[in-house]
Parts: sequence; C-alpha cells; structure tokens
Amino acid sequence: MFHNRREKLISRMQQQHIDVAVLVPGSNMYYFTGLHLKQSERLTLTAITANNQLYFLLPQVELNKVDASNAGTILSYSDEEGPAQAIQQLKKELGTLQTMGVEFDTMHVKEQKTIEKLTYDNLCDIGESIHELRMEKDHLEMDFMRQAVQIVEESLEATLPTIRVGVSEMEVAARLEYEMRRRGSEGTPFGTIVASGYRGALPHGRASTKKIEAGELIVIDFGAIYKGYVADMTRTVALGDVSPTLKNMYSIVKQANEAAIAAIKPGMTAHDIDNIARGIIRDAGYGEYFTHRLGHGIGLSAHEEPYLMQRNQLVLKPGMAFTVEPGIYVQDVGGVRIEDNLIVTENGYENLMTYSKELIML
Ligand code: CO
Repeated sequence: MFHNRREKLISRMQQQHIDVAVLVPGSNMYYFTGLHLKQSERLTLTAITANNQLYFLLPQVELNKVDASNAGTILSYSDEEGPAQAIQQLKKELGTLQTMGVEFDTMHVKEQKTIEKLTYDNLCDIGESIHELRMEKDHLEMDFMRQAVQIVEESLEATLPTIRVGVSEMEVAARLEYEMRRRGSEGTPFGTIVASGYRGALPHGRASTKKIEAGELIVIDFGAIYKGYVADMTRTVALGDVSPTLKNMYSIVKQANEAAIAAIKPGMTAHDIDNIARGIIRDAGYGEYFTHRLGHGIGLSAHEEPYLMQRNQLVLKPGMAFTVEPGIYVQDVGGVRIEDNLIVTENGYENLMTYSKELIML
C-alpha cells in the first residue's frame, strides 16, 4: 500500500522534474511510509527519490519504528552525536540534485536550514501534489474512517445521560474523551468543544469550567482517531425546555445541513455545496451569523483538502471525504452546529454518520 502511494508520488515528481521529496514527520510521512512520528527537536526526515529510493534519517530512539516493511535505507544518530554525520551520509547518497520538493506548510525553518546542507539548485512545494493524492481515499482508508465515526457516535450516546444541570462543560468533555478511548480511539485530533448557553456563540468554544444550566443549547464538537483516521462530529443538544428562538435556529441549521448533503455528487463544486447551506441560512435571516466555511476535508488530518467554501471551484470526485457543518452563532443568545462526515461516491454520497439530527432534549 505505502509502496503504491510512493509510486503515484514519484510519477508526479517526474512530471514536475522533482528529483527528491523530503518529508518531515506528520500525516504525509505516514501516508507514504507507514512511519508514525512526531515533529520534534530531534531531526527526522524521509527522502523519496524520483528513481524510487527511500531514506530515513532519524534519531536512534525511534529506530524500533522502522522495520523491513518500510524497505528503506536508515541513517540514524544518537542524542550525543547529533544528526550532522547522518546528514552528510544522506548528502552522499542523494548526490547532486536539481530540484528538491518539500512541504511548505509543515516544514519548520530549522528543518529547512538542515536540508540546505544537501546539494541542490531549487526548492519547490510538493504539498499541493500530496494534497491531491490524499484527497482520493481508498477502501481501506474509508473503512478506518467508518470505524472512527462509529467510535464518536457510540461515545456521544454514552455521554448524553451524564449531562445534567450543574455539570461543567469540562466534565462532559472528559466523559466523551474517556468513552472514545475505551472504544479504541488513539487520541483527540483537536481540543474537545463543549459550548453551552451563551458560550455556544463561540464557534470554537473549548470546554470550560462553566456549569450547564436548564434551557441552554450545548454545542458538542469532538473527534476520535482510528488507525490514524479522524472522525469529526458535532451535535447540539438541549437541556430542559429551550426558547422558540433557539429551536428556530436549530431547525434552520438542520435544514441547511440536510440540503447541502443531499446535493453532494461528483461534478458539483465545493462552492456549490457551501452555497446551498449558506443560502438557506441567509434566507432565514441569519446569514451574518454563519461565520465560517461549510466544511473541511478529513482523513489523516482533522482539517485537509477539500475545503467546502465560497469561491472554491474544486470539482467533487468519488473518494473525497469532508465534513458538512453549518452553524449559527448569536452573541448573548447561543449557538447551533450540526456536523456530519461524508464521502463522495460514484452517484452521490455516503454519510458516515447515522446519528439522529432531531434536536435532542435532555
Ligand atoms: Co469539523
């Protein structure tokens, strides 16, 4: 699988006359090598050459993560000696290069300074090509995403009965994270959002010490990771009886979510889908309160391409995966967001989320 992915990358490199791709730890390195490492003060690089050679430059402490299945040349260094020697070795292996491709959006300046010790003429961004490859999910990736979604849905179900008057947002977040861990989640891809009452007006309202009160809407936006793949779910629930204004906001967002999802199929653009949801919210008089894009791509990263937003003319294709998450946020009143995870199919879409979108009254 990783081998296949590298071949696709190499054929793009050849088209663009890139001699070597140098990747830093993160989702791209994982995607092409299976190596799951964190970007840190210990220099770690993977080099993939246009003639299909693979090199790992990494600290000794991570050596156990590379095995025969990674099929590359290992250049390691100890904490005491530092990476200088290993870099010289890599330089010798790679020889004189014309063009080196790196990830402009993730490489640290410190890492870039290090690769300047290699011999090359040009540096170019290989990130765009990689995003394009990663946008097309294969069946295994889709399966991991379905399992991640199952974890978030079951965890929400298990958490809802614990939400009562006087419970803090952080307690709700802790319970959710515990339930996800129990079900095999490898971690939280982003800080869990539990935003109740007036705090619901903050689209990114991380769980706080605020206690939940009767008559409030609670926006719960949280994620799980399964085999590296992220699920990202939002539901808004009501504790006790909520005002007609809040109920109306909820029904508009639900309508926007459902209409946008129903329109997903190959050939539509990212802009088109955003526009459908935005139109419904605008026509209901809440246009200025929907302050973010409709959705983001999802996969090994919680946010990746494609982005569902105004003026993005990217045409949807089978295998693309993204969220649809319209919202309304009114200061001093509250907020609503409903978020599902979708995959584009040959004829339409698959909604990975099966959880009800009716307003949940606790
Ligand atoms: Co999201």
